[in-house]
Amino acid sequence: SSGTGASSGGSGAAGVASSEALTFDKDAYTTLTTTITDADGADHDVEYRFYKAITYVAAPVDEKYQCLNVSVPVRIDGTAVDATDAPILFANSVGGYMPSSVADATGVGGGGGGATGMPGGGAPSASASASPSSSASASASASGEVASGGNGMVNAQGGMVSLPKLALAAGYVVVEPGARGRTLVDADGTYYGVAPAAIVDLKAAVRYVRSNKGRIPGDVDRIVSSGTSAGGALSSLLGASGDSPLYDRLLAAIGAADASDAIFATGAWCPITDLEHADGAYEWNWGSNPTSSGSTVDQAVSKDLRSQFAEYQASLRLKGLNGFGALTARNYDEYLVRQYMEPSATRYLAALSDADRTAYLAANTFIKWSGGRARFSWADFLTHVGARKKSTPAFDAFDLSAGENNLFGKGTTKARHFTLYSLRHESGGSARLDSDLPATLHLMNPMPFLTQKPNPHRTKHWWIRLGTKDSDTSHTVSANLAAAANALGDEVDHLYYWDEGHGANSDPGDFIKWIAKITN
Ligand code: DHB
Repeated sequence: SSGTGASSGGSGAAGVASSEALTFDKDAYTTLTTTITDADGADHDVEYRFYKAITYVAAPVDEKYQCLNVSVPVRIDGTAVDATDAPILFANSVGGYMPSSVADATGVGGGGGGATGMPGGGAPSASASASPSSSASASASASGEVASGGNGMVNAQGGMVSLPKLALAAGYVVVEPGARGRTLVDADGTYYGVAPAAIVDLKAAVRYVRSNKGRIPGDVDRIVSSGTSAGGALSSLLGASGDSPLYDRLLAAIGAADASDAIFATGAWCPITDLEHADGAYEWNWGSNPTSSGSTVDQAVSKDLRSQFAEYQASLRLKGLNGFGALTARNYDEYLVRQYMEPSATRYLAALSDADRTAYLAANTFIKWSGGRARFSWADFLTHVGARKKSTPAFDAFDLSAGENNLFGKGTTKARHFTLYSLRHESGGSARLDSDLPATLHLMNPMPFLTQKPNPHRTKHWWIRLGTKDSDTSHTVSANLAAAANALGDEVDHLYYWDEGHGANSDPGDFIKWIAKITN
């Protein structure tokens, strides 16, 4: 069964979702109280019901990961709240496509000082979710790319952001699902958390929630997903692929509930997605930027990849937002600067004091500031960002060292190539990708669900955010996602945080308000 590891569970119950096993027990909670500081800095006393480590499939492969927590507010600042019909924040904490577990959380957002890798509980360092503890095989990626999952998010002041906590204090129900991830390996050496396990698990968790309509608090038709980086990619994918039959067999194999897995809205921060096209997009964006050691990457490889991007971008036939015409490799720099980067810098500078703005502009003379607007060139913007984070190819590494090589492992093979270019570079010009890969790549990519054959059951509301200094992937990845959703008539709220890096969330309060607006 296509490398999901689902078959290794050997459970006779596979495919038969026991309705009893998947019935939400509304009495199985503990009541907790906590103080949550909202995005405006105000403290709120929150009393809530905490439902812990509920296995969300009838035939789990690994219950440590295939379980979810539910937090339901009952009293906020002394006033009773009824969350029966409240929106549901479905907050994954996946980082680096690693396993993510909520099994040991002590409260919403991981609770106080939760275990490493838990949402909100870990340190704000990039390593917070890079050590998912349980699996013998869990190891940081050899390439040095690290996970900074859902709650490795930092605000503009460098403080931690916990969307689950903010949502709870706003009166929403919070569901925090775990999911299998790429490093999990069983006693036989089988990698059972490689693609597409994580998305199958998140869909199963959504199905669990929806199948418990009327039992589980919250409006199951108003599920808003959130995630960062790999978690942002999975959040986008959850939104794009809602109710796609392509996952049915895999969902049946783990005993997922028989219910819709469509979600109402997607929140995605720095989504690391469209992986099979990301090497080309990366070189188009960062190809001429130095690496952190000051060297430039192999320019012949970079150029090859860049031309792949041109071809891919043309094939998408996307138009830019706000009347910008066809998006191509030739005009995408212009588009990014005008649509995203200049408005981002403008917002940033406008919010500064006159003295701070003057100082920033003096230190960054590439920005022309006039009439309350920032203007600059793409070339100067690239110079301003500086070192690129990754080498080339950024995702399908020639030596199989990237986390994504492991993500597309299969069976007892830990890591594989997933692009023809890197495969042939290593194995010769006639090498072919393993035959399962095209289908697996499709199951991991939101773009085909928006462009090739638009999915009518996709989310229609998109909140997409990215730091301008984030070079974990190309800036075109988020912008293409936004353009594809926009072309279908969906509501798209997409902006870039000026000078912020990977994992930033500078406007969490606005996201919480956006949920209220779209679910109203
Ligand atoms: C993440 C970061 C990456 O650079 C990547 O390639 C995949 C995932 C992450 O932070 O989740």
